[in-house]
Amino acid sequence: MRKDSIKIGLLGLGTVGTGVVKVLKENGENIQKKVGVPVTIEKVLVRDINKKRKVELLPGKLTTNVDDILEDPTIDIVVEVMGGENPALSYIIKALHKGKQVVTANKELIAKHGKEIFEAADCTTSDILFEASVCGGIPIVRPLKRCLAGNKIESIMGIVNGTTNYILTKMTKEGAEFKDVLREAQEKGYAEADPSADIDGHDAIRKIVILASIAFNTRVSLDQVYFEGIRKIEQVDIQYAKELGYTVKLLAIARDDNNEIEVRVHPAFIPNTHPLAAVSDVYNAVFVKGNAVGETMFYGKGAGELPTASAVVGDIIDAARNLVHENKGRISCTCFENKKVKSPEEIVSKYYVRIQVLDQPGVLASLAAAFGNNQVSLKSVIQTRARGEKAEVVVITHDIKEKNILKSIQDLKNLAVVDEVSNVIRVEDI
Ligand code: NAP
Ligand code: HSE
Repeated sequence: MRKDSIKIGLLGLGTVGTGVVKVLKENGENIQKKVGVPVTIEKVLVRDINKKRKVELLPGKLTTNVDDILEDPTIDIVVEVMGGENPALSYIIKALHKGKQVVTANKELIAKHGKEIFEAADCTTSDILFEASVCGGIPIVRPLKRCLAGNKIESIMGIVNGTTNYILTKMTKEGAEFKDVLREAQEKGYAEADPSADIDGHDAIRKIVILASIAFNTRVSLDQVYFEGIRKIEQVDIQYAKELGYTVKLLAIARDDNNEIEVRVHPAFIPNTHPLAAVSDVYNAVFVKGNAVGETMFYGKGAGELPTASAVVGDIIDAARNLVHENKGRISCTCFENKKVKSPEEIVSKYYVRIQVLDQPGVLASLAAAFGNNQVSLKSVIQTRARGEKAEVVVITHDIKEKNILKSIQDLKNLAVVDEVSNVIRVEDI
C-alpha cells in the first residue's frame, strides 16, 4: 500500500540536527510536493533532554532512549547526526537490520566502517545515504556515484577542510602567523578548542578516503593515506609562494596512476592560476578529472548548520521518494576492484625546500651536490634573505619520488654549511 507520510527518527540535535529540523520546517510544503506525501520528524534522540534547544519541537518528541526510534515500526528513515564512532555505528547497523532507510553525515564512520555498513545495507531492504559526510553542503558523493559514473575518474583534488582554508587564507591575505590566526579562529568559533582534527589533517583524510573509494571503485583505508597538517607553515613560506606565483593550500589528493592509487593530504604550493587557488576562507572545493567529462569543480560551504542540513535533507528526500514509489535507490557498494595503494615513498612530487646556510663561497655547490647525489634535479634556486651571518636559500625541485627527497634532506642536514632545513613543502604544478 502506498505510504501517506514519511516519518523520521533523528539521532542528534546539535549543529546539523538543528539545521535539519529548520530546513524540513522552512521548506516543508515544497518538500511534501517533491516527495508526494508529508515528511515529518517523529522522534529526536539527544543526550540531555533538559538542554536548551535552538529549535522548537512539539512536546514528547525528544528522547534519550534510542529504542523509541529503532524499535518504532512507523519510523521509516533514521537520520544519524550525532557523530562519533560508537554508539552511532551500532545504531546505524541496527536501523538497517530493522529495514529503515539510513541517512548519515558521519565521515568518521563511513571512512572507518564503510565496508561493514554497506554490507549490512546489502543484506537488508535498506539504503544508506551519506552525502553530507564529505564537504557538508557541496554535492560530491552523488555526482561521483551517479552523474560521473560513466567516467574513469583520473584524479580528485580538493580543499576539503574549511578551518585550515580559513587559516591559510588569513595568513596569505593579512600576513599573520599560523598560531595567531589559529587563536583568532578559535575565539570566533571556527576552530575547535582542540583543533588537531582539522589542522593536523585527520578530518581531510576521512573525506578523501571516502571520495577515493567511490571514485576508484576500491576500498581505501585511513592507514593507507599519507598526511601532514598545516602547523609547520610559516609566514615566510607564504611569502616565498607569492613571489614564485603560488598559493599555499591544504590539499587532499587522490589519483589513479595506471590502476595504482595514490591518496594523500598535505599542504602544497599550487599555481595562482588554478581554480582551487581562488577558494578562500571557510569555503571548500573539489576538482575532479574524468576521462569523458574532463575537468569539473564542485564549490561551496563544507560545513555549518544549514549547508550541511541541505545535504542531509537532500538524502532524506531521495530516501522518501524511494519509499513512496516502493523502489530502491541504492547503488550497492561500488568498491568492486582491489587496487594497490602506493606507499608514500613512491609518490612523485615537486618540492619547495627552505634552507638556512652559512653565507660563504661554495655553499650553493654543496647544496646542489646533496640534491644531485640523490637524483634530485633542481628547477630553481633563490637566495633573497640574509639573517646575520646566515643566508636563506630556497630550492624548487623537479618531479622526484619522496624517498629521494628524504635522502637529500638527510644529506643536507649533515653538511657543515647547513644550519637548518627549515621547511619542505610539496609543489603541485596542476
Ligand atoms: P554536535 O553539534 O556535537 O551534535 C551532536 C548531537 O548528538 C547532540 O544533540 C547530542 O545530544 C547528540 N548525541 C551525541 N552523542 C549522543 C549519544 N551517545 N546519545 C544520544 N545523543 C547523542 O555535532 P554536529 O556538529 O551536529 O555533527 C554531527 C555529525 O555531522 C558528525 O558526524 C559530524 O562529523 C557531521 N558533520 C558536521 C558538520 C558541521 O558543520 N557541524 C559538517 C559535516 C558533517 P545533546 O545535544 O543532548 O548533547
Ligand atoms: N571541521 C570541518 C572543517 C567541518 O573545518 O571543514 C566538518 O567537517
